[in-house]
Amino acid sequence: MSALLPRTHHCGELRAAHADQTVALQGWAHLVRDNGGVIFVVLRDKSGTVQVTVDERAAAEVWEQARKVRLEYVVQVQGVVVERQPGMANKDMATGAVEVLPTVLTVLNGTRPLPFAIGGKAAEASEEVRLKHRYIDLRRPELQEKLFLRSRTALSVRSFLSGRGFTEVETPVLTKSTPEGARDYLVPSRVHPGQFYALPQSPQIFKQLLMVAGFDRYFQIAKCFRDEDLRADRQPEFTQIDMELSFVTSDMVIELCSDMIRHVWREALGHEVGDIQRMTYAEAMARFGVDAPDLRFGLEHSTLDWSGTSFGVVGSALAAGGICKVMVVPGAAESTSRKTLDEYTAFVKRYRLGGLLWGKVSGDPSLAASWSGPLSKVELALLAQIPGVADGDLVLVGAGPKAHVHAGLGRLRPHIARQRGLVPEGAFRFCWVTDFPAFEWDEDNGRWVAMHHPFTSPVAAHIPWLGTEKMGEILSDAYDIVCNGYEIGGGSIRIHDSEVQSKVFAALGLSPEDAQAKFGFLLDALQFGAPPHGGLAMGFDRWIMLLAGTENIREVIAFPKTTSAQDIMSDAPNVVDEKQLRELHVATVVPAPPAAEPS
Ligand code: AMO
Repeated sequence: MSALLPRTHHCGELRAAHADQTVALQGWAHLVRDNGGVIFVVLRDKSGTVQVTVDERAAAEVWEQARKVRLEYVVQVQGVVVERQPGMANKDMATGAVEVLPTVLTVLNGTRPLPFAIGGKAAEASEEVRLKHRYIDLRRPELQEKLFLRSRTALSVRSFLSGRGFTEVETPVLTKSTPEGARDYLVPSRVHPGQFYALPQSPQIFKQLLMVAGFDRYFQIAKCFRDEDLRADRQPEFTQIDMELSFVTSDMVIELCSDMIRHVWREALGHEVGDIQRMTYAEAMARFGVDAPDLRFGLEHSTLDWSGTSFGVVGSALAAGGICKVMVVPGAAESTSRKTLDEYTAFVKRYRLGGLLWGKVSGDPSLAASWSGPLSKVELALLAQIPGVADGDLVLVGAGPKAHVHAGLGRLRPHIARQRGLVPEGAFRFCWVTDFPAFEWDEDNGRWVAMHHPFTSPVAAHIPWLGTEKMGEILSDAYDIVCNGYEIGGGSIRIHDSEVQSKVFAALGLSPEDAQAKFGFLLDALQFGAPPHGGLAMGFDRWIMLLAGTENIREVIAFPKTTSAQDIMSDAPNVVDEKQLRELHVATVVPAPPAAEPS
């Protein structure tokens, strides 16, 4: 074992100002080039890279060691920093003005053949291979940068919130089910046969209890666990900046959280967020078809009153209680091929919209002769309802059940914007969405469900409508924060009156016994002097995705799960011993898959 040298600098720090200094560095061989008489080793640590140059005239041990160095070997050097010859500086390296001439060079450790390259030019490895060897993938400077950003952002959040009187409190991970709309991850109890803990989908009830306990302002950077279908912006375990405040209105929470966003974006990126606009849920759905609209581009939707049309598909959709909406794509008539239009139709069908009616405008849109495509068969008086349509535009119309039209056109909008290059680089468009319906009708189970969670307060004026035929009209005192089409946070003012809370449970079809069994501890606590309170949780991983400019949530999590909720590095989930299962009083009904081959 070679003795470790006390490190004096990090590789990426060295500049011309360090010339003539003796430095000691440790790191990985990022690139190795043997030019016969000279060996160049680009040494990398978390701060960056620097070139170490070994000449065959160097001391024999140094030369011998240098010849052994291969990619990703762990190496330490001690040597003198020298400025490179005029014209020899490497402008692509932050340290390119200098190189280190070692007087000591030791290989501290070697490596097995690498599954993929970190430095140098090699074909991109598949994400699966990279996740399998995540500890190697994490050596990539781009990934390290994202985790440094994550760490700095957590610090920035902590300093902002503690400056505003928040106390960080940890809440349990082995707990009881919280209703956030996903399936729970369950943990069997050894001590209590047949009983299970649930991993928290969020710390929701505990943070409310902390308000009852008088903590006034709570936060936690909390792990949450949800067994749901995964997407590019969803993980089964993810992190929230979870917050709760006593004696607040929704305006106060929104203002404070807007300040936090401004603080973090300024510290992380030097970006000034400015005022954050607000929009009601109804407006978001009407203009964008989704409740988390991307405001970086136009392509807004409008509702058409085409009930008088003789055009079959639209007429029958409207007669069946559906809606008809339009999206105009400026200047896209000529550049959108039939193939692309077919692709758009297939796209909206994935969201259960039956199809798309398209029309291209060439000339004055008030003249029938200017229209081509299926829409040219629609009455001219009805086409005149389409706002803002001009010569050269592509017009897309969807008709059908409201939810399907919104989902189809709402998802198609960013798809087209991306395809046509309408999304500006580096822009952040935030927006608060408010006035959500409190409840949604669940067709499959024939009952009302809470749109956020059942502890969300309806707006005061609508509380008397609980359990009546006006359930669908009740608005909640809830708010979501959206950025660039991502829901990056959400919360509400809570119910602090146990009677109202019981009424909500009843309206959701929970019997008093069920409500007591599931949430008795909350109902009890609300009877012991609960203050008015409210809060919110920010999706911390999604914040980092936005700050880091990536659309893949796995890029901002050190050890993420795949889209099938597996950790292919540690091989989780996996089969456990029969003995362990017996101790937990658990029997599997599905035969265990064969054990994986050791790789
Ligand atoms: P909600 O369920 O809206 O609210 O979650 C808050 C925010 O967490 C993020 N998020 C996720 N991020 C990654 N992967 C997931 N699977 C995932 N699910 C949610 C989103 C979301 O806006 N207890 C309430 C908050 C409250 O009322 O205070 C809650 O959890 O960005």
